[in-house]
Amino acid sequence: MDLNTCGIIGQSPALLDVFKVLAKVAPTDSTVLVTGESGTGKELLVRALHANSRRTDKPFVPINCGAIPRELLESELFGHEKGAFTHAIRSRQGRFELADGGTIFLDEIGELDLSLQVKILRVLQEKEFERVGGTGTKKVDVRVVAATNRDLEAEVARGVFREDLFYRLNVIPIHLPPLRERGDDAMLLADTFLRGFCRDKERKTLRLSPEARDMLLRYAWPGNVRELENIMERLSILCDNDVVGADDLPSKIWTSLGQEKARPAPPAPAAGFAWPRLRDMEDKGMDLKTFLDEMEDRLLREALDTADGVKNRAAEILGIKRTTLIEKLKKKQIG
Ligand SMILES: Nc1ncnc2c1ncn2[C@@H]1O[C@H](COP(=O)(O)OP(=O)(O)OP(=O)(O)O)[C@@H](O)[C@H]1O
Ligand SMILES: [Mg+2]
Repeated sequence: MDLNTCGIIGQSPALLDVFKVLAKVAPTDSTVLVTGESGTGKELLVRALHANSRRTDKPFVPINCGAIPRELLESELFGHEKGAFTHAIRSRQGRFELADGGTIFLDEIGELDLSLQVKILRVLQEKEFERVGGTGTKKVDVRVVAATNRDLEAEVARGVFREDLFYRLNVIPIHLPPLRERGDDAMLLADTFLRGFCRDKERKTLRLSPEARDMLLRYAWPGNVRELENIMERLSILCDNDVVGADDLPSKIWTSLGQEKARPAPPAPAAGFAWPRLRDMEDKGMDLKTFLDEMEDRLLREALDTADGVKNRAAEILGIKRTTLIEKLKKKQIG
């Protein structure tokens, strides 16, 4: 079976290992626990699990256990009978019933309180549960996939997560590595996101300058792929040039790399400056033309560097026309 990776981008060894497990596990009915920091793509992975399972034509029902208040969560999960509580005007199916035949995704499972943990454990073991206020037992055929960005083993040790439930969920653990451990994937993702957002905004695709790439590769990405995606979207709106320079990157990245965004002021020209003398030329063993060419070369390169490779800006700094600059660069074979 060809693996449908559902748009999960990356080729790093760390991610390829995840794909390998995904391919093996998806066709089974085993319970899977996906862990990883926020924004690493846990939800994307769980959707890929469902898409590659034999349940793919059946419902995929996600529920975020951390986003629903405790009083409502039980009824969301298991449904309720009419009159079970004040606002229960009619009976209602819960997510487990809705997911029958398919997959239920218990997102942020670490947020469940102990009493609900017991009920989830029962579904996992007996495949049965009761609606809130109900007397009869319901049976379902549901594959359970859970995700969390918490360290559940530590939660077990603290006594806030049931050990038996942890083991039941953790039959197949899949850990999504943080983006900073995926090497060049960050660049692949950045380029893909930029292309997509620029297409959406009907603008020419932005390219990343070498300096910007270097910074993006060194940054630790605490918000992982989601943070990268957001930054690329912002650039597609705010960046004025066709090339993203280091200066265009958010201050957050600069500070976290211990750099100052504002360029250091150039050294005062008067201090220590002296026009070259004949002696300097002779010291270098150059004739006049070679010496002047070399000076021009250095100034051109510095200007390009300052402009993050943006030729328009470099020409402006040098006070020459863009076309003149390009002609000079070509003659000097500067890239
Ligand atoms: N490898 C990837 N390729 C392409 N897009 C990705 C990848 N990983 C994550 N994304 C995108 O990043 C965003 C966050 O991913 P997702 O919601 O799956 O993360 P999460 O781990 O569930 O985060 P949280 O812990 O905050 O719930 C989504 O827009 C998702 O499409
Ligand atoms: Mg998520």
